[in-house]
Amino acid sequence: MIGKRVAIAILLALLVGGCSKQSTQAGEPPAPPTPTAAPAGAPGDTVSKSPITVDDLELMKKSVLFTEEDAKYLKMSRAVLEPQTEAILDVWYGFVGSQPHLLAYFSSAAGEVQPDYLAKVRVRFGQWILDTAQADYDQAWIDYQLEIGRRHHRIGKNRTDGADAVDHIHLRHITLLTVPIVHTLRPFLEAKGHSASDVDKMQQAWLKSVLLQVTLWSYPYVNDGDF
Ligand code: HEM
Repeated sequence: MIGKRVAIAILLALLVGGCSKQSTQAGEPPAPPTPTAAPAGAPGDTVSKSPITVDDLELMKKSVLFTEEDAKYLKMSRAVLEPQTEAILDVWYGFVGSQPHLLAYFSSAAGEVQPDYLAKVRVRFGQWILDTAQADYDQAWIDYQLEIGRRHHRIGKNRTDGADAVDHIHLRHITLLTVPIVHTLRPFLEAKGHSASDVDKMQQAWLKSVLLQVTLWSYPYVNDGDF
């Protein structure tokens, strides 16, 4: 059971995040987050260059069996998921909020949940859903994956939002969160009347993409030369 104070903090974050909905017409590129909503939050912003190249990513795609067909089904999922972004974030935030060992990473060292931090990260998380489904995995996207990795790691966590939360997320939970993220997407992928086969293929493509991404995010966590 989560305490009353924690529950209020999560509710606040959900409400604030829910108000900052970033809807666009299906098919149009998503509007960049506004500076107040998501400081330095979108691919294309100034981020460090990743040592991982497009050629490296092509080999990683082969390792995870990611093909053009997966890119096609991710793009199909974009139109399906975009109008449901806030509901998806409610489910994912609900999961993190229900797990004290995960909520701790959005809290101060003393255990105080940071609703403002939750809300600000939520805006970038919404953008991430669209970027993942857009499947334009070019060098700018690869560079931004390094930035996301850094933001989970002590070398970059809290800085984007000026948050006062614990300074590092342990890698073990990042890789494992792939399962709840992809599993809970299923009802949203089913919601627009696609065939079971299309839903399966969209979900498989999401699994491969999230695995590619959490692998890229692990870069700051591993010893030099080991990635
Ligand atoms: C599959 C696993 C995960 C996914 C897909 C994911 C996704 C994301 C995304 C998209 C962002 C925003 C990135 C940006 O700044 O543009 C983010 C930030 C964040 N995530 Fe994760 N995440 C995962 C695992 C975790 C875990 C296990 C935790 C622990 C609770 C966590 C806590 C956070 C925090 C605290 C931030 C804000 C970091 C900062 O900028 O200070 N994430 N995550």
